Amino acid sequence: MQRFKIVFVILISLCIIPTGFANTFGEDSPTRFTLTNQSGSAATSLRMRRGINIGNALEAPQEGAWGVYIEDEYFRIIKEAGFDTVRIPIRWSVHAESYPPYRIYEDFFQRVDHVVSKALEQNLITIINIHHYEEIMYNPEYHRERFIAIWRQIAEHYKDYPETLCFELLNEPSYNLVDRIWNELVAETVRVIRESNPTRKIIIGPTRWNSVYKLEALKLPEDENIIVTFHFYTPFEFTHQGAEWVSPSPPTGKKWIGTEDEKKQIRDELDIAVKWAGKHGNITLFMGEFGAYGKADMDSRIRWTSFVVKEAEKRNIAWCYWEFCSGFGAYDPVTKKWREGLLNALTSSKHYVSVETDGGSILGAGWYEEGSYATIRVVETSIGFPVPSIFDHFEGLRPEDRLIDISVVELYVDGPRVIKAVWRKDYTLLLVIVVTMCIIAVAAAFLYRSRIKAK
Ligand code: BGC
Repeated sequence: MQRFKIVFVILISLCIIPTGFANTFGEDSPTRFTLTNQSGSAATSLRMRRGINIGNALEAPQEGAWGVYIEDEYFRIIKEAGFDTVRIPIRWSVHAESYPPYRIYEDFFQRVDHVVSKALEQNLITIINIHHYEEIMYNPEYHRERFIAIWRQIAEHYKDYPETLCFELLNEPSYNLVDRIWNELVAETVRVIRESNPTRKIIIGPTRWNSVYKLEALKLPEDENIIVTFHFYTPFEFTHQGAEWVSPSPPTGKKWIGTEDEKKQIRDELDIAVKWAGKHGNITLFMGEFGAYGKADMDSRIRWTSFVVKEAEKRNIAWCYWEFCSGFGAYDPVTKKWREGLLNALTSSKHYVSVETDGGSILGAGWYEEGSYATIRVVETSIGFPVPSIFDHFEGLRPEDRLIDISVVELYVDGPRVIKAVWRKDYTLLLVIVVTMCIIAVAAAFLYRSRIKAK
């Protein structure tokens, strides 16, 4: 019996392994992902791994109103930078009639067609969704029929597009769109989409703004081609510091250093998603938004982004950065250049070495290969007058690091590293000045008195 079981397990593994890995990424990819639910044959496969959201454009009240108009060249720039996926948030609700049959306006369809075709021309997996349908969050029953009608039209319109176009039902269900209503709406909408798109990937996320803590409440239809999305902005006080659209807005100045506690918080939350997906038959996960707003300091943003990416990839979770060229932007549309640090955080296998310092300038921070040494040098070791800050020592060194002299150290890079340059105030100069001035004053007084006496 025992032997029969072993043979059975080997046979099953032989059947499963090739199907699973046939759908994974190329040999050159550092990690392997499958976006295929392996439980059945109707599942199609997609090589989705690294994506970016073109946010603040088509989901604004009108394209351009939030400063982003999607240029055709964006898709080439994104593709050439190493991404394979774009998510295009779209506010269909302002471009459709508010009464039955809730017709989507033709000119808007044409604009979306254009954008989608430019993305597909670059062989980018392209996700379109319904975004910022705020009214349905507050009054879901009232908007139910309209929501489904909008999806019926989108589905019909794109039914002949390649399978690399994916549909995402709704960005961040929240407020009154509670679990029960959302689950019913999901079931009904998927049924409608399937009438015209039998195998297209449909992306669905839980309530509470696509929180991993709401995955347990999400009920999925029996369907081979569903991907589950979640959004990741932990810790919120860091990623959303100074965010104008959040009330109250978390105060600015919060750093993300990458302490053990900070890292654990991120790992634990990703593990919730992984555990849930495993429990429900290896559901394919997609981290559809994550990012840190531009009001956080750049070093912290780079450290956080790089850490989240690497942890997601370790767990075979495909991801999509929020976002391309606006407030969280990895790309600067003015200089027409990527923000190197953020792009590396998203696409490089190198590790970020950074130095926290209260003063002075430091050389050597940047991106290093695993196993190399980063030479960090404090350029000026004394700054300020009349109480200068004097460089004192580095904090956070490890036995493998090599201290060359007090202001130069070679750091061993076996992962992201951050050290602190500690400075101290030096009152010697001030003391010398005060003492000198006292001596001068005493001497002057003495001279003055002796002159008076002489007269
Ligand atoms: C919203 C954006 C917001 C981002 C981060 C997205 O889902 O649509 O408006 O900037 O989340 O909060």
